[in-house]
This record gives sequence, structure tokens and C-alpha cells, in this order.
Amino acid sequence: MSHADDHVGTRRDFLYFATAGAGTVAAGAAAWTLVNQMNPSADVQALSSIQVDVGGIETGTQLTVKWLGKPVFIRRRTQAEIDEGRAVDLNDLIDPSAQNPNLGGVEPATDENRTLDEAGEWLVQIGVCTHLGCVPIGDGAGDFGGWFCPCHGSHYDTAGRIRRGPAPQNLHIPVAEFLDDTTIKLG
Ligand code: FES
Repeated sequence: MSHADDHVGTRRDFLYFATAGAGTVAAGAAAWTLVNQMNPSADVQALSSIQVDVGGIETGTQLTVKWLGKPVFIRRRTQAEIDEGRAVDLNDLIDPSAQNPNLGGVEPATDENRTLDEAGEWLVQIGVCTHLGCVPIGDGAGDFGGWFCPCHGSHYDTAGRIRRGPAPQNLHIPVAEFLDDTTIKLG
């Protein structure tokens, strides 16, 4: 079954799932296949909290899962992406906020404040452009090596921070945490 056949939504939605890597989503005791996760039932969409097995995500790839009706990008960054994100001068940022509810307040948009782990390997973001809500393209797209929203030309860097274009804010980070080495809980 092709992605086009099984995904209900716009063609734009579908395009961005094409970059999803290997992985599974677990909700309670039930394991869901990647295909199911790309075409979730209403029940799954309604879950406020899901667990994602990220053990199969290779460095330099991104898994997209759907959570609360929105795509969530889970990227395992390369060292080059981490270094690039950490080298950015905060004065160059359009949105100075980390947009990270896990920090418990408004914190500066350093690369370190955007990632889920201290090493900066795991970047988890809601895959919705902060301009008008399109789903950005990942895998190093755009002029800053991160994500690019083709709707009106917003460029995000390797930490998902808006760097050029009409989007006013960095990609939002969901409430998330590692439960163990290979399991991320969203919500
Ligand atoms: S919705 Fe992304 S640039 Fe307009």
C-alpha cells in the first residue's frame, strides 16, 4: 500500500511523511506499525500521550509521527547539525524564545535549549510552520540546513529556529521526555 493510498489528507501532508525513518509507536501495551501511525485512527489521534520507539532511527534521519492530529518530527541529528546549531549567534535569530515547554518558562533559543538530550542529538518538534500552518520539508532543506516551508518560503535551521521568511516563531517543541534510551513520550 503506498503512502498516497493510505494517507487521508492533502498531498502536502503526504509528501512530508516520505522522509520518515524506521520506528514504531506504542500506546499503552499496544504496538503500532509505522503504516498505522501514518494513518492513525480517530482513537489514536485522540490520545493525549503516546510513546515512540526511536531505537530504529538512524543518525541523520527523521521519524514523523502524528500526535494530537499534528505531525511531530523526531530527528536524530548528525554531529555537523549539532555543531552548526550551536555555532549560531543568538543575535541572528528572529525568535529569541526556545519555544520549549519542557524548560518550564521562556528561555533563550540556544541550540541546547531546543533538544531533548544534553548531547543535542535528539530534536523533537511539532512539524507545523509557525506562519500559517503548513508542514515544512526536512532533511536539511532550506538555506539553513534544517527545514523549509514551501508555502511562503520560511527557512528553519538545524535546531528548527526560524531564520528567514514570514514565520514569526521557531518550530514549537512538544511536551516530551525520554522514558528510557529508546523511548520518547510525547505529552
Ligand atoms: S505557512 Fe510556512 S511560510 Fe507560510
